[in-house]
Amino acid sequence: MRGLPALGSPTGFATDRGGRLNNLNSPMHSDLIARINTDHLVHNCRVIRGLCRPGTRICAVLKADAYGHGLSLVAPVLQEAGVEFAAVATLLEAVELRTVGWRRPILVLGNVLAVTDPRERRERLRAIIRHQLTLSITDYEAIKTLSRMDVRSPVEVHIKVDTGMGRMGVLPDQALFLVQAVLASPKLRLSGIYSHFATADFELRDLVDHQLATFNATLSRLAPLLPPNLARHLANTAATLTLPAAHFDMVRPGLAMYGLVPAEHLGANLTLKPVLRLVSHLTAVKDLPAGHCVGYGQAFTTRRPTRLGIVPIGYYDGYVRSLSNRAVVGTPDGDAPVIGRVSMDQMAVDLTDLPPQRLGTEIVIIDDRVDRPNSVPALARLMNTIPYEVLCLLGQRIQRIAVGSSCGATAPPLDPRQKQALLAATD
Ligand SMILES: Cc1ncc(COP(=O)(O)O)c(C=O)c1O
Repeated sequence: MRGLPALGSPTGFATDRGGRLNNLNSPMHSDLIARINTDHLVHNCRVIRGLCRPGTRICAVLKADAYGHGLSLVAPVLQEAGVEFAAVATLLEAVELRTVGWRRPILVLGNVLAVTDPRERRERLRAIIRHQLTLSITDYEAIKTLSRMDVRSPVEVHIKVDTGMGRMGVLPDQALFLVQAVLASPKLRLSGIYSHFATADFELRDLVDHQLATFNATLSRLAPLLPPNLARHLANTAATLTLPAAHFDMVRPGLAMYGLVPAEHLGANLTLKPVLRLVSHLTAVKDLPAGHCVGYGQAFTTRRPTRLGIVPIGYYDGYVRSLSNRAVVGTPDGDAPVIGRVSMDQMAVDLTDLPPQRLGTEIVIIDDRVDRPNSVPALARLMNTIPYEVLCLLGQRIQRIAVGSSCGATAPPLDPRQKQALLAATD
């Protein structure tokens, strides 16, 4: 990479090598703490690397605030662990990643130049250049826009090919045209080509095989034009774990970095360790008589004298209403069922069958042991969704704190106003 601006200092943030409590803006703690286990992150990295041929690069997918784990905590650890590349969805995420000290290449997955306002487009271009971002190219429009830029050194681009997913990407028969257009522009440097699987987590392999064959056929057709050292990449978590033929020069795992797998059959022989543990504490403990309503909508009525506990998490924090009357939380003395409706910021649990619990007792809302009934996969099943969504729903009221001994250098995360200011900043 070319020399990057010393990020962190222009924002006025001091970096914190200790890494602990490093996204705290005040000395007071939230009632909701997500403990991000940095040793588990490093371990998962090693597991992933161990599955790949020597020399295969890892592109950690850090979009959506590192899948809800906190970009400012995760990125420095992965950088120190030797991860070569990062991928994010948006320009703001890319800028934030630079700001928390990521010095290696960043691939922006989204088509960030697809805006009609010329001023907005100019600002975006400036941010791309200033932060030395690698852009995904999926259409000719972006090439035209980039070719009009006033730049000293060319912008790195990866062409994204739609091999069957039917989302972003140029269709294979138009890829040649895009490659030629990129190569013809002195403002651009083609440094990668990639595609994305739609069903790599399925046991049925039809579409996966088709996409892999299509990607290989596209690469063969383009081979005479493609520059040497081009990064060819295709594998998400599922393909990284199960399909070495899809590893090419770089793998692009997201969920596995965080110690989880998209489908149960993929995790059987792996030792990935979930990174996030979400805890809170009891903010009320009280005894209700039999026949008493619990929470909104009278969705639960006590059938016996009941010791009720209140936990300060609700659907605003991503603990969704479909968990009402269904999930359990962990206490130091055993599990307690969630009773009644989960409300916006609180929920009730039944402590009757446990030894007396005190106010302030720690409650484990999401356990980092996958075999527990309140693990991310278990909650995903209850919510009728996927582990990704459970993690991404976790709200900003939850304070992410790094634990473990593998913390890298970092800076606190930015608030939205600071991000916007950084995006607009010129050289
Ligand atoms: C283009 C792209 N590559 C890789 C990933 C990582 O996927 P996973 O978390 O399944 O590894 C994603 C996530 O959605 C993605 O959009």
